[in-house]
Amino acid sequence: MTCFPFLFSRKGKLKTNGGFDVDNEVSSIDNVKLYTYKELKVATEEFSEANKIGEGGFGSVYKGRLKDGKIAAIKVLSAESKQGVREFLTEINVISEIEHENLVKLYGCCVEENHRILVYNYLENNSLAQTLIGGSQSNIYFNWRTRLKICIGIARGLAYLHEEVRPHIVHRDIKASNILLDKDLTPKISDFGLAKLIPPNMTHVSTRVAGTIGYLAPEYAIRGQLTRKADVYSFGVLLMEIVSGRCNTNTRLPIEEQYLLERTWGLYERRELVGLVDTALNGDFDAEQACNFLKIGLLCTQDSPKLRPSMSTVVKMLTGEMNVNDKITKPGLISDFMDLKVRSNEKNKPETTNTSFNVSSGLDNLDNSILSSATTAATMTFTALYDRSI
Ligand SMILES: Nc1ncnc2c1ncn2[C@@H]1O[C@H](COP(=O)(O)OP(=O)(O)OP(=O)(O)O)[C@@H](O)[C@H]1O
Ligand SMILES: [Mg+2]
Repeated sequence: MTCFPFLFSRKGKLKTNGGFDVDNEVSSIDNVKLYTYKELKVATEEFSEANKIGEGGFGSVYKGRLKDGKIAAIKVLSAESKQGVREFLTEINVISEIEHENLVKLYGCCVEENHRILVYNYLENNSLAQTLIGGSQSNIYFNWRTRLKICIGIARGLAYLHEEVRPHIVHRDIKASNILLDKDLTPKISDFGLAKLIPPNMTHVSTRVAGTIGYLAPEYAIRGQLTRKADVYSFGVLLMEIVSGRCNTNTRLPIEEQYLLERTWGLYERRELVGLVDTALNGDFDAEQACNFLKIGLLCTQDSPKLRPSMSTVVKMLTGEMNVNDKITKPGLISDFMDLKVRSNEKNKPETTNTSFNVSSGLDNLDNSILSSATTAATMTFTALYDRSI
């Protein structure tokens, strides 16, 4: 499908209706629909606050109605992202060719002047972070069947990126806010391929949510080894969040319960995994299945990447096509490596600790996957904010 609002000039340049030239050496952009800035401005009523639906590490997201009547989520990449048109479109072309029931569909983009804007299919039911996890005011009830469908859907989307797309894509930022839900609560993974659009010196890992750190595989966080198995680790954490209905890090809980992964491991050792299942389900769930899901979460978060299953194996285990291997060792806990835990005795003294650590993105590409992150060496600084007041 070619859908450029382009005019072809004789000099071998492509020209958009907005008068913006794009070098036609970028011959592989045939599948990308280009929107003019004016069109997106109209769609979002001048990027009005009323239409703003969120803000992440990449920039702001607006809801808008396109000329053809479609409702879209319009992500305006922040000013720091001044990647050249060619690189930008090359990456966009890769993303826009990917279609799967469990991946958010990219409609197209805008690359006029300094503007870098992505236009996505709009998902009606927000993200898992704003609904199931994090205790927001959402009025969606996630029963066990829905959770099961969500877990399997995410696993299928990720298996597709890892094993069917060529070259493979490592997402690098699997977390609850990047799982969007459509009107039927079908999960859609968002932001795949996006990390490559961001200059390497600019961290996109959100520092607003302390929990983000809890999704990072230790070998990636500490040594910068980014492979598909880092995504498998993040998926494992997400799986535990969906079954338990809680965020991976919650410093408001008693110290022994603050880190979901540690808690899951402790309960597994005591054969009490069922105690972790979300009490909001009021006992209405398949206990064997729920415990299996938590065990799969532990398998995905094993310290050694080699011990973690591939995503297609995860899909089979989740659907019951394959037995869940019960040889589980202690998961890799980032808190074992870094002094991230705040074990303050000063319980009554409200205070915020600002812990910074460097993540070297040296990118030892262990399994020849194309990385969804910037491929040049990068040192990202993540800042974890811990509220010590409780
Ligand atoms: N396609 C979409 N449909 C509906 N809402 C969306 C869509 N994409 C994003 N959003 C909303 O915008 C919010 C911000 O998304 P964004 O991806 O910018 O940030 P994030 O996921 O919170 O963090 P990060 O930048 O690390 O991915 C999301 O939480 C979601 O509520
Ligand atoms: Mg996101």
